[in-house]
Amino acid sequence: MTKNKVEAILEEMTREEKVDQLMQLATLFYEGSRQKGKITGPMEEMGIELNTVHNSGSVLGGAGAEEVKSIQKAHLEKNRLGIPLLMMADIIHGFKTIFPVPLAIGCSWDTDLAEMSAEIAAKEASVSGVHVTFAPMVDLVRDPRWGRVMESTGEDSFLNASFAKAFVRGFQGENLETDMDRVAACVKHFAAYGAPAGGRDYNTVDMSERELRESYLPAYKAALDEGCEMVMTAFNTVDSIPASANKKLMRHLLRDEWGFDGVIISDWGAVKETIAHGVAADEAEAAQKAIEAGVDIEMMTTCYVKHLKRLVEEGKVDEHLLDDSVLRILKLKEKLGLFENPYRGADEEKEKELILCESHRQSARELAVKSCVLLKNESVLPLHKEQKVALIGPFAESGDLLGPWSWQGSKEDAVKLSDGFKTKTKGENLFISRGCDIVTALEGEFEKAVETARKADVIVLALGEHSKMSGEAKCRADIRLPEVQLELIKKLKELGKPVSVILFNGRPLDLHGVIDEADAVLEAWYPGTEGGHAIADLVYGDKNPSGKLSMSFPYSVGQVPVYYNAYTTGRPKLEPVTEYVSKYLDIPNEPLLQFGFGLSYTTFSYNEPQISADAFNSQETLSASVTVTNTGDVPGEEVVQFYVRDVTGEVVRPLKELKGFKKMYLEPGQSEKVSFTVSEEMLRYHHSDLTFKSDPGEFVAFIGPDSNTGEPLNFSLTSSFQRV
Ligand code: IFM
Repeated sequence: MTKNKVEAILEEMTREEKVDQLMQLATLFYEGSRQKGKITGPMEEMGIELNTVHNSGSVLGGAGAEEVKSIQKAHLEKNRLGIPLLMMADIIHGFKTIFPVPLAIGCSWDTDLAEMSAEIAAKEASVSGVHVTFAPMVDLVRDPRWGRVMESTGEDSFLNASFAKAFVRGFQGENLETDMDRVAACVKHFAAYGAPAGGRDYNTVDMSERELRESYLPAYKAALDEGCEMVMTAFNTVDSIPASANKKLMRHLLRDEWGFDGVIISDWGAVKETIAHGVAADEAEAAQKAIEAGVDIEMMTTCYVKHLKRLVEEGKVDEHLLDDSVLRILKLKEKLGLFENPYRGADEEKEKELILCESHRQSARELAVKSCVLLKNESVLPLHKEQKVALIGPFAESGDLLGPWSWQGSKEDAVKLSDGFKTKTKGENLFISRGCDIVTALEGEFEKAVETARKADVIVLALGEHSKMSGEAKCRADIRLPEVQLELIKKLKELGKPVSVILFNGRPLDLHGVIDEADAVLEAWYPGTEGGHAIADLVYGDKNPSGKLSMSFPYSVGQVPVYYNAYTTGRPKLEPVTEYVSKYLDIPNEPLLQFGFGLSYTTFSYNEPQISADAFNSQETLSASVTVTNTGDVPGEEVVQFYVRDVTGEVVRPLKELKGFKKMYLEPGQSEKVSFTVSEEMLRYHHSDLTFKSDPGEFVAFIGPDSNTGEPLNFSLTSSFQRV
């Protein structure tokens, strides 16, 4: 269908049909849905009529080829102009084959595998009838109290931007028009949803525009540069205006400055929430503000369908705004080929063939292996297959390994840790006990755990947060492990046997009581469907841990936000430490475990780094390099990280910033040289007047295994280039 045909449809649409096209409701409102509510049910509560539903443009949460086809068929029978529905859903880290949570994927520093995970998610989702996924979530996160940090790839804008691009490529492929096994991506949550005050979900976000542009916007921009089709607004305010009513964010930045012409959807209920925010007096004003600001689709509230028509007729809202929104939605439907084939990839036979197939499971296992981070190891891991092992803890036999936002995933399909261990060692070597529940003691279980541990040579504790302790609206002020689990560690430690802890959680935790007590700690996050296999691979040494933290672990919650690329102060804490400097009296300034940190079963040495020259101009580049050697006994992968510090800027500059990384595989004794190109472009930053440019001057580069380590390489830029 040509563009003119889409415009022709628009011309035929009544004003009411146009407005209805902007409404998105959950499946239960639609004819043909299995869970369809009665007309007296949710629809009545929403105050909308059946005809409005027949004209609506998209569906939230429809999945399963049979049901989606049935909804689409029923819709097309009733829709006057035969405009198909868009099926949108949250396919965040897998559809039914669940991959590790995105924060864990961030720790893999492996964008190829991330892309592959999104491609597999897209395949499974598209055969199940999904057209658009509400992913990737690329909100930069610095506060582990916020429950949704698990959905982000972490605290660094460069790393997040790299993953944002990879996810978009994986979801959308090369050509959405021809690739029926891909889905359109929707980057979210625009903007800065990851910075709520106090780490409390939906709370105010207040930051300078310079900081917004410098740290928070690059990942959304990267997703759009990669061709991401849609954008979802955030729940929070940005500079005192709710994101869903924020003209500056959507019309000025997204549309005018970045040239984005795709569909913008509000988050669930966010248009109406502008009333609770206190910037709209009623639903009509909420609708007016949202459409004027740039929201095309209103998700799960009805301010548009109830008021937009009248607002246009009264001349309060320009009809062009309505037409533009409808046209954008129709164009996306056209791009996805829905006018020709409204069912697109939905296919019951392929669902059976593809979903949770062996190759998808293998990929999930591989990514889970690469996402785990070894935080401590006093020569306890890996275990020998002949050792007698006591596997204890609430996660020992739990299927709760998928993590939040895995609504299509099933715990029954997840490989439990105990099942993974059973593939590595004989039954007579494995003793299992629960010890306690996640937050509560269970009568007699501590004692049973101690008895179990007595039979073994080593103790492996499977601990963490249950998956409902992170995710949306799941914020915690105290980010330690629940007290009962800390007690369990202490009790078992008294036996004097080596204790390894495997952690399942959705956020960086305060690890006091864990890292100081245990001999080894493996951060497994929520590893997904193949979690038990992947962790057993690592624990028994068939695979070598290679993950590195993409978010710092605070020393204590009193430090947060704590992140590696903070600014220095006028009174930095330098040795010898004096009284009136920027410091805490009771804890260090540094996080417990820094961004980029992660251990391996082997060791790597870095030789003295080199730089090709000590000065360059904007037309030239430099090369910074180092040779890395595997100095241990087993093969391993190392993430070599490249950071730059701008010594003097027009505004204060971060202590250092990630500018590149390379993951390399080395056999024992093998060395490889890694080089990073330094260009003027990578030295640009937002100045106080928001111009994005570099300054001539002094810089320091660091190449190392984490954000704290690396010999300085000094260089200077002699001339700059400016892009306004
Ligand atoms: O996509 C999500 C969003 O991240 C949070 N609110 C609900 C949306 C749709 O499920």
